[in-house]
Amino acid sequence: MDSVDFDALEGQAEVKMLPASWAFCATGADDEISVNENITAWRNLRLRPRVMRDVDKVDTSVTVLGQKLSTPIMVAPTGRHKLFHPQGEAATARGAAAAGAAFVLASNSNITIEDVAAERRDAPQWFQLYYWPERAEVEALIDRVAAAGFTALVLTVDAPTGGWSPRAARAQHEPSPDILNINMPGSPMARTFYHPDFAGKVIYPATWNELEWLVKRSPIPVLVKGVLRADDAVRSADCGARAIIVSNHGGRHLDTTVTTAAAVGEIAAAVGAKAEVYVDGGIRRGTDILKALSLGARAVLVGRPAIWGLTIHGAAGVQAVLEHLHVELVRAMQLSGARTLAEATPDLVAR
Ligand SMILES: Cc1cc2nc3c(=O)[nH]c(=O)nc-3n(C[C@H](O)[C@H](O)[C@H](O)COP(=O)(O)O)c2cc1C
Repeated sequence: MDSVDFDALEGQAEVKMLPASWAFCATGADDEISVNENITAWRNLRLRPRVMRDVDKVDTSVTVLGQKLSTPIMVAPTGRHKLFHPQGEAATARGAAAAGAAFVLASNSNITIEDVAAERRDAPQWFQLYYWPERAEVEALIDRVAAAGFTALVLTVDAPTGGWSPRAARAQHEPSPDILNINMPGSPMARTFYHPDFAGKVIYPATWNELEWLVKRSPIPVLVKGVLRADDAVRSADCGARAIIVSNHGGRHLDTTVTTAAAVGEIAAAVGAKAEVYVDGGIRRGTDILKALSLGARAVLVGRPAIWGLTIHGAAGVQAVLEHLHVELVRAMQLSGARTLAEATPDLVAR
């Protein structure tokens, strides 16, 4: 796959998906300003390449939560993969594992935690948690996740209530016994968040108290996803979060937020050594990844591109998307004179 094919991938995925699945995947909240700006914000940053370095050998390895990985590219948690491929998250996990990429399984997944765990190879799997009010159920879930070998919990904090997407609301997928939120209590049929039944309801009421409790109770490290401010990031780290994921949920809930490209540098500087910092939202190119890492992120996550790959070729499609991004990252590093990720420093990006 080359860059031209990668650009075409989204269109190919759209053609292959049912209209409701496409709306669920592609949509952003309200006027879809953030979903689009996430992409343009990375593209509008300018690189300041270093020349005349020996870039014959480039090393993209990174240590994340104490584990060495060959790539800083990870798969973001996105729900309901059976809307995109019959093998659902099992295929996504297999593709990520084949590419050596960490995989974050969403709470709202359609394949069991244990069946996803069976796809693990060397790269870690983490579990994205939506905190909901019945604490005993949360405890049972996180113990099950840890028993299945997942090595971190990713607590999503940017969607206590759902945003609103007119586009997705108009194209609801039909609830079906084939598409269950299978890891949730009672394994309910999956429904879109963008439904009038949910409007205005606080479904996932995680506050700072819950974070403190979770950090104490969880058998595995807790990460906080959905932070856009340095003060919240520092407070998360002070509560014991081992990493912060700078994210606006792919522009799906609150529209017109700051872009993640604009937020990541300030957050990484404020957090310093207290926690690791990763970023997602609109990462589509190796140059985007190099910019994110230069601004202080340790790793990046991709959401929609992995879904496009899943839709088109299942596990092999996910692997191809991740490997394509990796090839682009290597090329961007070589052309910018950065031989290791440690050499991706803030001065590589123009202020
Ligand atoms: C279809 C879809 C479903 C998502 N579901 C979740 C979810 O269940 N939990 C979560 O924390 N983030 C969810 N996200 C957000 C992603 O984890 C990630 O923040 C976002 O997709 C990154 O932006 P990108 O798609 O531009 O790469 C979802 C994103 C998409 C596209």
